[in-house]
Amino acid sequence: MTKAEIIQNIALLKKEKNAIILAHYYQESDIQDIADFVGDSLALAQWAAKTTADIIVLCGVHFMGETAKILSPEKRVFIPDLMAGCSLAESCPADEFEKFVHDHPGHTVISYVNTTAAVKALTDIVVTSTNAKQVVESLPADEKIIFGPDKNLGDYINKLTGRNMLLWDGVCHVHAQFSLEKIMDLKKEHPEALLLAHPECPKYLLEMADHVGSTSSILKFATLSDKKQFIVATEAGILHQMQKENPEKEFIPAPPEDSTCACNECFYMKMNTLEKLYLSLKNETPEIFIEERIRLKAVKPIERMLEISARHGL
Ligand code: 13P
Ligand code: SF4
Repeated sequence: MTKAEIIQNIALLKKEKNAIILAHYYQESDIQDIADFVGDSLALAQWAAKTTADIIVLCGVHFMGETAKILSPEKRVFIPDLMAGCSLAESCPADEFEKFVHDHPGHTVISYVNTTAAVKALTDIVVTSTNAKQVVESLPADEKIIFGPDKNLGDYINKLTGRNMLLWDGVCHVHAQFSLEKIMDLKKEHPEALLLAHPECPKYLLEMADHVGSTSSILKFATLSDKKQFIVATEAGILHQMQKENPEKEFIPAPPEDSTCACNECFYMKMNTLEKLYLSLKNETPEIFIEERIRLKAVKPIERMLEISARHGL
């Protein structure tokens, strides 16, 4: 089948099955271009909660599919490749997190959305990088908080809010990999360029960045800025929307260490392809299933996050 035929068949199947395609900014460009909605992890959860479609094909990683299923249990949720995981979610096994929480009684548990449903079931409030600051600030200043699993995001939020949250020791394999040396070289080559960084990046990068934010925040900042050049320290998939919305501006991907590649890609996000998307819609597999006992516990902290986000217009 040619690419054009795959795209045509996806459109036919979507209509026939009343399906919706939701895609994260890190998906390959072809998937972003045919999706009904492209967004960050908060926006994907908000869409999954409100869609009237019978089927959601979540083009992202496994925890994003799980979040959609937790919020919309009556819908069938598919992801193009069931093996599309997340190094952050994997760095935080539920049994070890449960022990950590148990060993630190009296703490409110905040988990990044990049976690399994089982970890969310142990959590009081879920956050994404878009709303983490607002969620933490919604709690009293003296509240004892556990934050997991991303220590870079946790450390950054501690700095922004003046809190002293206890951090789980996890990182994202993509954002931990940026090369400071290569970024310094790029800044020398392009002295006018602003550095934009996702808060999953290490502290030394966040401290030198001109803007720190989630994928949607980075995109918005670049669109509203009157500058013309940007070095982008997050997964390179976001450059597609940045370039689409700002054809006159230049976006330079920040390079990783230990690689000759100019950009940094999430191996998991890139497991999804247009063809796998077509097959998942056609064959209605692989499907996301969650034990109801876990789902009922996991939905509460996600709903708390959505309420706080709505209050802040996020
Ligand atoms: P966003 O919530 O900013 O889209 O980030 C998701 C993610 O996986 C970052 O690595
Ligand atoms: Fe997970 Fe990192 Fe990939 Fe985001 S970029 S999905 S945090 S592994």
